[in-house]
Amino acid sequence: MTILEQRSLQLEMPIILRAATLEDLPKLEWYGQYKHFRNLFRRTYREQEAGRRLMLVADSNSFPIGHVFIQFKDPDDDLKNTGRAYLYSFRVMEMFRGHGVGTWLLQEAENITLDRGLEWATIAVAKDNHGARRLYERIGYRIYSEDSGRWSYLDHKGIARHVNEPCWMLQKQLRLR
Ligand SMILES: CC(C)(COP(=O)(O)OP(=O)(O)OC[C@H]1O[C@@H](n2cnc3c(N)ncnc32)[C@H](O)[C@@H]1OP(=O)(O)O)[C@@H](O)C(=O)NCCC(=O)NCCS
Repeated sequence: MTILEQRSLQLEMPIILRAATLEDLPKLEWYGQYKHFRNLFRRTYREQEAGRRLMLVADSNSFPIGHVFIQFKDPDDDLKNTGRAYLYSFRVMEMFRGHGVGTWLLQEAENITLDRGLEWATIAVAKDNHGARRLYERIGYRIYSEDSGRWSYLDHKGIARHVNEPCWMLQKQLRLR
């Protein structure tokens, strides 16, 4: 057997879903990949403490390998108040993709939304993100509108970053499973 010959080791890696804790905030940056969202993560955590949002994380070995955030009020719903939650910041670390973690996160986010007495979930997807759109449509989301996808935030250095990502808006009426 040479040193280049392939060997394998089977790892069992239980994954649990839970709300983010303060200790997760640096880990959500995924070793620098998302450090530019540091302020957003902190702000969302404060909103979670106030009960207005929830940062749902998929935890493997105490590390948040995926997450979706829930805003318990659709930002477009200020006047209508139609009982919608907005799901956003949905991502799974690349090496864990394609095993159902993303679908599980969304299903749990929907259950939490229903528990809060909200009947609809909405989500935005960039027009060129065909994979994520396929996933959303497979689990029942349908396009109801489009959005310019323009927004801004302050990065970890306090520098304003401007996002311009035209997207589809999708929604789903939730039912108890
Ligand atoms: C979108 C994203 C969160 C999905 O996460 P994921 O964990 O790969 O999602 P799933 O595994 O549940 O579903 C992905 C695919 O794996 C398949 N799959 C689901 N369960 C599976 C399983 N147990 N085994 C193998 N494949 C599975 C699904 O059928 C799906 O196939 P599709 O591409 O035909 O839709 C992930 O791709 C990601 O982080 N992308 C980059 C960020 C992003 O685009 N986020 C969305 C912003 S709108």
